[in-house]
Amino acid sequence: MTVTVTKAPRKLGGSSLSVFPVGLGCMSLSGTYGKSDDAEAIKVVHHALERGVNFLDSSDMYGWGHNESLLGKALAGRRDKAVLATKFGQTQQPGGANGVNGRPEYVKQACEASLERLGVDVIDLYYQHRVDPSVPIEDTVGAMSELVKAGKVKAIGLCEAKPDTIRRAHKTYPLAAVQSEYSLLYRQHAEETLQTTRALGISYVAYSPLGRSLLTGAVKSVADIPEGDGRGRHPRFAADNLARNLQLVAAIEALAKAKHCTPGEVALAWLLAQGTDIVPIPGTKRSARVDENAGAADVALSADDVARLSAALPPGAAAGGRYPDAGMKAVYL
Ligand SMILES: NC(=O)c1ccc[n+]([C@@H]2O[C@H](COP(=O)([O-])OP(=O)(O)OC[C@H]3O[C@@H](n4cnc5c(N)ncnc54)[C@H](OP(=O)(O)O)[C@@H]3O)[C@@H](O)[C@H]2O)c1
Repeated sequence: MTVTVTKAPRKLGGSSLSVFPVGLGCMSLSGTYGKSDDAEAIKVVHHALERGVNFLDSSDMYGWGHNESLLGKALAGRRDKAVLATKFGQTQQPGGANGVNGRPEYVKQACEASLERLGVDVIDLYYQHRVDPSVPIEDTVGAMSELVKAGKVKAIGLCEAKPDTIRRAHKTYPLAAVQSEYSLLYRQHAEETLQTTRALGISYVAYSPLGRSLLTGAVKSVADIPEGDGRGRHPRFAADNLARNLQLVAAIEALAKAKHCTPGEVALAWLLAQGTDIVPIPGTKRSARVDENAGAADVALSADDVARLSAALPPGAAAGGRYPDAGMKAVYL
């Protein structure tokens, strides 16, 4: 039996927003994984929109404003083609470490700054990027709901929130989406979270759905990660961990060969097959990979394929945590 994955737009929770089943993560267009080129990045965004990949994911902290300004340029004259998501709440601390700020007055200030950089009147989906443990979630979400009432934001979401936080937030104002890491590599937090998002009718936006490229098989050794590429600081790519993780990726590569598609497409197709509430947002700096990743919606996995992949990469199998230790303290709060 084939798991039916349609290319029909996926609705984001109870909101008015619908998106192509595979989005475009824009983070690396601001240099996260090595140098990026603005002119090329704008072409990638235009290419995505032209072929219907309409869900663009940004944040005010990607390049600390650069990403939103870049999208502002890319969207000039094309705003109506995009479902635009951005985020607030991570801040730059003196000395360079990341902080968090979920205070109501900051929410409003951050939104105004994002609207200005993006050059738009309204943000389609506005997320809190990290939960601020010093501010009750009701206060932060209350301020976000005021942005909806003021017409500055169409729908709201949280990133990396644990089930109890999601329930409290949703009671304050309905969330359209929760965005957290989810892939064949890391799915323990995601599977716990999905029980709650599904019960509440909230969509799940899967970030780093290619495991920050690991699941595509493109990185075979630490030497494949260029100097200055942020993947180098992630435990999953540390030499010993990478060797173990590549043994897991072999199962994806084998299925891709049998299906005459790429490992990246299989990894995304597995996510799409988990339910129509899931929207993966792979990131790439290359138009050809926008096409490849969107093509995952055409890959027909049988229920048996899905089950075999799930068994070959069981929850908890990944070597190395999702983030370095300091980053792990800020997620799933
Ligand atoms: N909410 C959060 O806290 C959070 C955290 C992380 C990410 N995100 C969002 O999620 C998006 C995606 O996550 P991500 O960029 O970290 O990871 P990802 O999508 O899992 O992987 C991106 C990496 O894979 C490579 N890649 C993409 N498509 C490929 C393909 N078909 N074949 C081979 N390699 C491919 C990219 O390189 P090239 O550019 O060279 O193609 C890049 O190095 C981000 O852009 C961001 O919008 C959110």
